[in-house]
Amino acid sequence: LYGDRRNSGGFVFADEATSAPFLAALEPLLARTDWTAAPLVKGRAWPGTKVEIRDPSNGRAVGSVMEAETKLVDQAFSAAVAATMPDAQARATILEAAADKLEAKRVELIALLAREAGKTLPDALGEVREAADFCRYYALLARRHFAAPETLAGPTGESNDLRLAGRGPFVCISPWNFPLAIFVGQVAAAFAAGNPVIAKPAEQTPLIAFQAIRILLEAGVPPDALALLPGRGETLGAMLVADPRTAGVAFTGSTGTARAINRALAAREGPIVPFIAETGGLNAMLVDSSALPEQVVADVIASSFNSAGQRCSALRVLCLQKEIAPRVLSLLEGATKELVLGDPARLATDVGPVIDAESLSMLLSHSTQLDRTAKLVCRAKMPAGEGGNFFAPCAYELPSLDAIDKEVFGPILHVVTFASGELEPMLAAINAKGYGLTLGVHSRIEETVEFIRRRACVGNLYVNRNMIGATVGVQPFGGEGLSGTGPKAGGPHYLFRFAVERTFTVNT
Ligand code: NAD
Ligand code: ALA
Repeated sequence: LYGDRRNSGGFVFADEATSAPFLAALEPLLARTDWTAAPLVKGRAWPGTKVEIRDPSNGRAVGSVMEAETKLVDQAFSAAVAATMPDAQARATILEAAADKLEAKRVELIALLAREAGKTLPDALGEVREAADFCRYYALLARRHFAAPETLAGPTGESNDLRLAGRGPFVCISPWNFPLAIFVGQVAAAFAAGNPVIAKPAEQTPLIAFQAIRILLEAGVPPDALALLPGRGETLGAMLVADPRTAGVAFTGSTGTARAINRALAAREGPIVPFIAETGGLNAMLVDSSALPEQVVADVIASSFNSAGQRCSALRVLCLQKEIAPRVLSLLEGATKELVLGDPARLATDVGPVIDAESLSMLLSHSTQLDRTAKLVCRAKMPAGEGGNFFAPCAYELPSLDAIDKEVFGPILHVVTFASGELEPMLAAINAKGYGLTLGVHSRIEETVEFIRRRACVGNLYVNRNMIGATVGVQPFGGEGLSGTGPKAGGPHYLFRFAVERTFTVNT
């Protein structure tokens, strides 16, 4: 419970009394190979080009998607432009109903998240909870800011008020690494602010997106006001962005794609529209010699290797003061070797697969290059058996921070050390990389923490804890610079960018 608001609840997997019935219900769903997805426009499913979806942990079939034909783009926009939007109170009620339905269907959703996206069970449960939290939180913001005009003080004989309203068809483009939470979060925000939505999920994860849109439609989102168009980013996504009827774009994904969309929006005809981009990070953790090594290592393992390092918030560069480095690295080696890789649907698994063969090959090529240019600190054991897109989490000590400039999206940790008195230049060098998503700090010196807080150019700064898993309404999430435009998802200002503001002045 946070103030007057409750976030979605979970359960402790280690407690057999709660996890046993959950696992029993999950089992048959994990075996399903017949999940389907199709474009949804005007509330009905449409044919398309069939593409198989395979489990990243073993290559087995999970189901198939009908990718949208390009002619559906026009249909989706026509419906969206003509859609009658419910008022803010009604939109909020619909989103609250959607949150309840997401929770009620959590076993199916968790099964699909494990099979389609390779999510471990705790990660999958976390996604369902976060998706429900986004719906409830944006419902609350819609009631607070969109339901009634804000009256403004002015001269005698005049009334003034300010009203927030939707902009029009909002295109929501999402990544595969939070295929439920981020996908639903974008759609819920755009809808809460009064916009019809056209959602394009990532190519890798259309099945879970299809389930989410069905839940939103069942909860009462008008069919004309919500379309799902699964398909390729470079073709279908680009068409959506270029369409002059697009009134705004909410995008989460890589910095490179954000640049491509930004260029396309700048080049097109039609109105100038907002572009909300949440992108990658080159996230660091600064550890000085006052830190507790055991706590540091627990937080480094969680931040770098949970979710197979496939979180935008994940730790990429661990910066250790030289005095503490040997102890931290020795503990890190031990903890990394204990990690269990394997089927993400097994409770014993710590780290699941990476999303696809392309991602695996990028990580193998990066680690091969590091084998030549850096010193291996540790590497986890590969799972027994063959198959699946498994990459063993590992850490390498780099000669300096100059050796890494770009986000490498997976469980590879880069380590650099700094001498006493060099924390300030280390922080300056991190800032100079240009990203600005998350930063971790481990220090028990208050002045050091305050110094870093004042100078760090990041959206989310975490002190003496791990740096992943921002909670909706508690840790508004999002970065700056190469990491995104803001506003912060799950934060009190998020909906405003999805809306127009209209001032209404009457001479009384
Ligand atoms: P991506 O950029 O490859 O794809 C994201 C989405 O964009 C997909 O739906 C894709 O189909 C679409 N797309 C691709 N090209 C397009 C184009 N030209 N026009 C329109 N749409 C296009 O990213 P990804 O590999 O799916 O996701 C991983 C990335 O996402 C990482 O960089 C990660 O850091 C970032 N991410 C950021 C956040 C955040 O909140 N800052 C959260 C999650 C992931
Ligand atoms: N919101 C996600 C996290 O904080 C990306 O890890």
